Amino acid sequence: MSAPHHGLPRLLAGLEPGGAPMSLAGHTHIHGPLPYIAPDQLIEEVGRSGLRGRGGADFPTARKLRAVAVRRRVGPVLVNGSETEPASAKDRLLLARLPHLVLDGAVLAAGAVGASEVIVKVGEGAADALDALRGAVSVRDGDRVRISVLAGPEGYVTGEESAVVHFLNGGPAKPTFVPPRPFERGIRGRPTLIQNPETLAQLALVARFGSSWYRELGTLADPGSALVTITGSVRHPGVYELAFGTPMSDLLDAAGGPVEPLQALLVGGYFGTWVDASNAVGLRLAREDLRSVGCSLGSGVLIALGESACGVHESARVISYLASQSAGQCGPCLYGLRAIADSFGALADGVAEPRERDRLLRWCADVRGRGACHHPDGAVRFVESALRVFARDLEGHPRGRCDALPAGLPLGDSAVQPPGSANRRTRALAR
Ligand SMILES: Cc1cc2nc3c(=O)[nH]c(=O)nc-3n(C[C@H](O)[C@H](O)[C@H](O)COP(=O)(O)O)c2cc1C
Ligand code: SF4
Repeated sequence: MSAPHHGLPRLLAGLEPGGAPMSLAGHTHIHGPLPYIAPDQLIEEVGRSGLRGRGGADFPTARKLRAVAVRRRVGPVLVNGSETEPASAKDRLLLARLPHLVLDGAVLAAGAVGASEVIVKVGEGAADALDALRGAVSVRDGDRVRISVLAGPEGYVTGEESAVVHFLNGGPAKPTFVPPRPFERGIRGRPTLIQNPETLAQLALVARFGSSWYRELGTLADPGSALVTITGSVRHPGVYELAFGTPMSDLLDAAGGPVEPLQALLVGGYFGTWVDASNAVGLRLAREDLRSVGCSLGSGVLIALGESACGVHESARVISYLASQSAGQCGPCLYGLRAIADSFGALADGVAEPRERDRLLRWCADVRGRGACHHPDGAVRFVESALRVFARDLEGHPRGRCDALPAGLPLGDSAVQPPGSANRRTRALAR
């Protein structure tokens, strides 16, 4: 193993302020060469590190590796670089600026599960990531696997793993009914390991420096560091690498601190949960703390909502967006989310019927768990938290437009900011 560096940054070490992708020589200089580790040993080490997936589902990575490794005729390892959460910028930052770190992780994971191919799938709007990845693949030699880079359509549900597999198998980028899950039957019908780019970048460091090093940061239950996209009412929105266990107030400080008093934080992106600001500041970036207020880190997005904005109107926009992103193949998702969005919109516009809130909660319960994928579940989690946190604002919300300032939560293709500018502001904050 190479000599480890301690503290933060880890993943973002050596990131150049100019915005260029890190060269292979620069990458090797910082992290050392790609190590060889026997498949079983790597899976054991990843298990000991406690690494969990960073694409939103928080699944233990070693369990997933093992589930594929025990199968025969394994298909390609798929790097899910779709990053369809509109406020998230971390995966694009990794792919566009640190492509070799992600590719190292994918090559190592391929070795661990017995795959001979890696496919990196990126949204077609992420031209910088596509260029950086293709450039990186062209200068790598010695990888025992074939690596290809593909662009796919944009849209919230196109990043769901069965949708990515469906697309790569020649179908539309829509989720399919599971089982079989991709680890059983994925690309070309073969068992397929699918991981988020950050998960693989973390795995590349665990392979080099070991699980004890990985656990030097973070908490016992949540070891290591995480990339968090912090945006909204903060001075310097961007992607930050932080140790698990970092207090929420330090996260906000890492992004320059709030620009005005905050009323709420949205933790985990649009499948996430609003938390009242007074409850949020006492939390740490740790599963246990987040669970105590009913949320999780999801895809690593934190949005600060200032007092000048209206949580009701911002939530109504997001709910309407999520309803528009249904792949349209499951009735409860297609019709239920539209009805929920219209109902929430009526509350926001002050034209709701007296029992609208109760009806809305009933519809949320009806829709939960009724889709082929988790799109409806994520959407109703967001809606229920908005009803809870903005309950007072919802009562007698003014008819027509309220006079709050728009917070401009990003929707669709308007991501937080292009990775170039995010990177200028990238900071690493030690525990
Ligand atoms: C609607 C929806 C959209 C998703 N979009 C993404 C995405 O853009 N990128 C991603 O890595 N995971 C996304 N996921 C999660 C993936 O299905 C999958 O869990 C993940 O890629 C696995 O990688 P991990 O174990 O490294 O987190 C999405 C899930 C859902 C339900
Ligand atoms: S739940 Fe919604 S997004 Fe998921 S597959 Fe069904 S229609 Fe598509």
